[in-house]
Amino acid sequence: MSVTVVLGLAWGDEGKGRVCDALANDARYVARYSGGNNAGHTVRVGDEEFKLHLIPSGMVREGVICTIGNGVVVDPEVLAREVRELEERGLDARNRLKVDGRAHLILPYHIRLDSSREKALGDSSIGTTKCGIGPAYEDKVARVGVRVQDIFNEKILRAKLEGALREKNSIFTNVYHEEPFEVDGLAERLLSFKELLGPMVTDTGAMLREALDRGERVLMEGAQATLLDNDFGTYPFVTSSNPSVGGVCVGAGVPPNRLENVVGVTKAYTTRVGDGAFPTELHDGVAETIRDAGNEYGTTTGRARRVGWLDLPAIKYTASLNGVTHLAVTLLDVLSAVEEVKVCVGYEVRGAPVEGYPMYQDALEDAKPIYEMFAGWGEDITGSKTREDLPGAAREFVEFLEKEIGVPVCMVSVGPERDQAIFEWTHSAIEEFSEA
Ligand code: IMP
Repeated sequence: MSVTVVLGLAWGDEGKGRVCDALANDARYVARYSGGNNAGHTVRVGDEEFKLHLIPSGMVREGVICTIGNGVVVDPEVLAREVRELEERGLDARNRLKVDGRAHLILPYHIRLDSSREKALGDSSIGTTKCGIGPAYEDKVARVGVRVQDIFNEKILRAKLEGALREKNSIFTNVYHEEPFEVDGLAERLLSFKELLGPMVTDTGAMLREALDRGERVLMEGAQATLLDNDFGTYPFVTSSNPSVGGVCVGAGVPPNRLENVVGVTKAYTTRVGDGAFPTELHDGVAETIRDAGNEYGTTTGRARRVGWLDLPAIKYTASLNGVTHLAVTLLDVLSAVEEVKVCVGYEVRGAPVEGYPMYQDALEDAKPIYEMFAGWGEDITGSKTREDLPGAAREFVEFLEKEIGVPVCMVSVGPERDQAIFEWTHSAIEEFSEA
């Protein structure tokens, strides 16, 4: 058995949670490999809606073991809250969740620094989720981070906090004119998580590798998405981790030759939260229509998402970068609300057509989309169960994406409920697709 990776092809919020939920049906393990609680995965099960930020959405499937890999940054307060909330709703989160001892912690000073820095950047701010993600990853790379395992060794914990705060406090007091943090208060709070975390902390990479050796199926749940990748995204308007496929190996501890299926998830249109170039962004009534029909408001921050047409140069770039083997197209039903559907098939930069997705920030900022038009279908498709059930125009749209991106579509979501999706979406269906 091998690994199936589910990751986003644009700027996040593609509906990865529900694609993972569908695939988790026949997976034994669901793992997070990057990011932190800046993610917002929504899964609907009947009348119930689960909004998860840190814990993999596989948790809503009974029997699935969820792991938070070494590449994730963990805010222990959020972890404790999510475990409690899931348990209140009858899910045995405590027993089915494993957290890697190498994962770094997001601490209160990271959260404060994230906000203070965004404020100081003014008009140039990134538009972060203010969860402390960037500062936590900075500390990891600067080798002054505090790790999950440090909670179990008070001496190491205090020494690390002292070392980190020496510099941080000088930034808080001298640069931002804010109160310093104290080691004692932080250490005490962190030590209080010992009981909760004790049974959960493990070497999750070793656990997943052993599971793979035993023939069990592992699903990697991407958070954020490829255009937010620190290396390959629209830098500097990106997150501080690697949500793209390379992040799986370093963030979950599995070797590359175990990655077999890479399911790239894209909405039938595009959204973005936070700042940065977005060539196909709409500023008219169509944006409002799509935002309302798709309920395009952030799960983590509640911010109204920026909305635009599907951007093929971007999706082709991210599909190629990630070695995507299958596409999942989400929220197709939302486009029932518009009269005409556009897809960006290329860009012009300063009057000249360009090949592919620009590497230069200024080229992307100046990129003018070239559109291909599609007739709208203007009818309710939420009951569609197969490709054939779709109106001709909607089918044509899906098949156009499949042909242009050169990857088979394995799932199309046509409504928020678990069963409102077309095509078989199980691993066996994916494997059949791969063999065809
Ligand atoms: P950070 O990850 O909080 O540092 O935010 C950096 C950028 O990534 C901002 O533009 C955020 O809005 C964006 N971002 C981070 N996480 C998500 C997500 O899960 N969905 C969509 N955008 C995200």
